[in-house]
Amino acid sequence: MAERPIVIYGDPVLREVSKPVDSVNQQVKDLVSDMTDTLRKARGLGLAAVQIGVPRRVFLVDLSALDVRETLRVFINPEIVSASGEVELEEGCLSFPDLYQKIVRPATVTVRALDADGKPFEMTAEGMAARAILHEYDHLEGKLFIDYLSPLTRQLLKGRLKKLAAC
Ligand code: NI
Repeated sequence: MAERPIVIYGDPVLREVSKPVDSVNQQVKDLVSDMTDTLRKARGLGLAAVQIGVPRRVFLVDLSALDVRETLRVFINPEIVSASGEVELEEGCLSFPDLYQKIVRPATVTVRALDADGKPFEMTAEGMAARAILHEYDHLEGKLFIDYLSPLTRQLLKGRLKKLAAC
């Protein structure tokens, strides 16, 4: 499979609500394989399918980057079961090169999804893993991390965002 170009902020596809996957068939497995190559090459923590221009409810989080005992996890048709607490962490996104911002989100999240073989699983995560899952889940809803910034911060970043969108 192959690495694919990452969609950058300004492309309207990032605002689309991704559609559920009907069945984890070969086409979906190929998509996951391309996403894995793309994420590894970009050295990112997470990637949603929409970020390679495919608005389907699939995302990856490379938990091995946070914990050597962990692996790259595939989340297909994920659902947030519960989220609790609140923590401010610095966050970035492969669709916003070189932009990092402190964002408040839940500290712990429980998510249910299908894995790369179509098998259901549920996991609870905290820290950066929870952060990555919540961030990637948002991509499926057409939501971006800059949406959480205060109007003042957005105003301050206006020039940089405009530049990104013009790329
Ligand atoms: Ni992102």
